[in-house]
Amino acid sequence: MNLPVLKIGNKTAAVPIVQGGMAIRLSTARLAGTVAKEGGVGLVAASGLPFDQLRKEIRLARKISEGNGLIGINVMVAAKAFKGLITTAAQEKVDLIVAGAGFSRDMFAVGKEYNVPIVPIVSYAKLAKISERLGASAIVVEGTEAGGHLGTQRSIKDILPEILSVVNIPVIAAGGAITGSDVADLYKLGASGVQMGSRFAASEESNGSPFLKEVYLKMTKDDVVQIDSPVGLKGRAVLTPFSKSILEGHPMKPVGCDGCLKHCSRKFCIIRALTRAQQGDVETGLVFTGANMWKIKEILPVHEIFRRLKAELAQI
Ligand SMILES: Cc1cc2nc3c(=O)[nH]c(=O)nc-3n(C[C@H](O)[C@H](O)[C@H](O)COP(=O)(O)O)c2cc1C
Repeated sequence: MNLPVLKIGNKTAAVPIVQGGMAIRLSTARLAGTVAKEGGVGLVAASGLPFDQLRKEIRLARKISEGNGLIGINVMVAAKAFKGLITTAAQEKVDLIVAGAGFSRDMFAVGKEYNVPIVPIVSYAKLAKISERLGASAIVVEGTEAGGHLGTQRSIKDILPEILSVVNIPVIAAGGAITGSDVADLYKLGASGVQMGSRFAASEESNGSPFLKEVYLKMTKDDVVQIDSPVGLKGRAVLTPFSKSILEGHPMKPVGCDGCLKHCSRKFCIIRALTRAQQGDVETGLVFTGANMWKIKEILPVHEIFRRLKAELAQI
């Protein structure tokens, strides 16, 4: 199976694989830049980054990409710094801005002002239609198999056809794709691109500590849980002492608060919990995962991930 190029606004990625944005600091310049170097779409996770650091990450990712593929950012709408982060990225002339964990009309104005394609993450048809009407260049449709914050409990394979029947912009499918055959299945349903998170979280270039990557390799299917995030959404995570404490209703309370979210239940600090996991504290950190991460048995370099995906697709 030969995959067509992915067009987002007036930008083109030769390989229609999008590396999903992964906060906090899991998808930084090295991962995003290397994915783009392979011809795909690399997304720097902007949530939780100071503006000047985001600028540096975007510039470094572009340098690593050697001018191939596309470089964008992913940001959580629920963050108070949302508008500042997307404006910073737009000033850096990123190729696209992907926004999830909430929906914002503001981002379309920023996209128009700086001529940057806006790509909302949606999980149901109504929001897909609204996105197209407001000027989205493409949408990412995430099913329940995805990692991180979830907008739905329905499978990508059920939602995708519904959404494709109501919009005409490119639709990038996300959730559960680990192999070339998974990617092919989403193409057969009509996707224009596939966003992958777990496979890239468990890559050499992902910015997570080796201890975090070891959790990914050791986990089983039974270790995949859903927790209530302070953002007000479900979050898909690995069963660790910390996620167990959330499920039991007594997570570690934050000492002090930066007030970083527009709305927060304050049951625990998600930014700090994700940061602890990224830095290798997998006991008190929150380890986000996709539903199929347990199928991954090796931490691979991005180049090898792309080589295998292409080889598997060529067999189909
Ligand atoms: C560790 C991890 C962290 C993630 N963080 C974010 C995030 O910060 N923002 C976001 O929009 N999606 C996030 N996601 C979702 C991914 O970008 C992607 O859409 C999803 O994981 C796709 O499903 P897959 O993991 O089965 O490939 C995260 C996923 C993982 C596995």
